[in-house]
Amino acid sequence: MTSLVIGATGNVGRQVAVQLAGRGLPVRALARRPEKADLPSGIEVVPGDLSDLDSLRAALRGVDSVFLMWPLISGDPAEAIADTVAAGARRLVLLSSAAARGDSHDAISQVHRAVEEAIERTSLEWTFLQPHGFATNTLGWASQIREDGVVRGAYGSVYSTLIHEADMAAVAVTALTSEGHAGAKYDLTGAAALTQVEQVRVIGEVIGRETRWEEVPREVARELLLRRIPAKYADAMLDAFARLAGREPDRPTTTVEDVTGVPARTFAQWVADHAAEFAPAER
Ligand SMILES: NC(=O)c1ccc[n+]([C@@H]2O[C@H](COP(=O)([O-])OP(=O)(O)OC[C@H]3O[C@@H](n4cnc5c(N)ncnc54)[C@H](OP(=O)(O)O)[C@@H]3O)[C@@H](O)[C@H]2O)c1
Repeated sequence: MTSLVIGATGNVGRQVAVQLAGRGLPVRALARRPEKADLPSGIEVVPGDLSDLDSLRAALRGVDSVFLMWPLISGDPAEAIADTVAAGARRLVLLSSAAARGDSHDAISQVHRAVEEAIERTSLEWTFLQPHGFATNTLGWASQIREDGVVRGAYGSVYSTLIHEADMAAVAVTALTSEGHAGAKYDLTGAAALTQVEQVRVIGEVIGRETRWEEVPREVARELLLRRIPAKYADAMLDAFARLAGREPDRPTTTVEDVTGVPARTFAQWVADHAAEFAPAER
């Protein structure tokens, strides 16, 4: 019962592939550049690209279940990709987004909703993971923390319930490998809500260096974001922060524990797992 992992070189997909392999289950990873995938031996890596349906069809041979994340900037190819997966596999777990839940019309919400709707129209036994912010987003601060410990950004008082990629993967692996998850839309968060200012403080505490948040105007924060992500995502992210400014924190969900039996990891645990990425380069 092979599982195909799409996005297996990414934050969440890598964890899904590694956790499936860790359980001794057959895993195939789709990668655009297999030679650079750097996945543990025991994981079969095949070449493929979501923009090339023939490569997806080939990767689906002999596959029972699929983990799909959506790396594309548009939802337009969703129907063709969903139909291709449905023709080859029985079960699909989609890494979607909490943004798909509400009635927001920003770019991120629209793309994820389009992908979910295309999958819902197929005969697949689907499960949607709808996480809020990823803890990996804070890796975008790593160069500033390595440099002088000062993180410059906008809306520092906004809360988020950052989630560890290993927890999302654990939910995905459970849904891929056991019954009872078909049709579920899992609202996933980390263990607690922290403001951006608090997140920077926790990073400093865990890595043992002085760190602090410095509030900058939105336009300056946008320029910093544009070094890492496309403009429409930077704007959607800043708009989301603007909507959340001054609001009480969202209550973390218990979904990770409900599905896997293990509570979501804390943000401090996530930082400890990524401490090397925040450490200053050796001079
Ligand atoms: N960040 C957040 O707070 C947040 C919150 C909710 C939902 N999400 C959603 O989570 C997803 C991002 O997950 P992530 O952080 O795990 O991803 P990631 O680390 O950015 O990795 C992207 C993956 O997509 C693969 N990829 C890119 N283009 C591809 C293509 N044309 N065909 C096949 N594979 C392709 C990349 O593989 P190669 O480049 O190696 O080929 C890589 O494995 C997005 O859909 C995002 O909207 C994010």
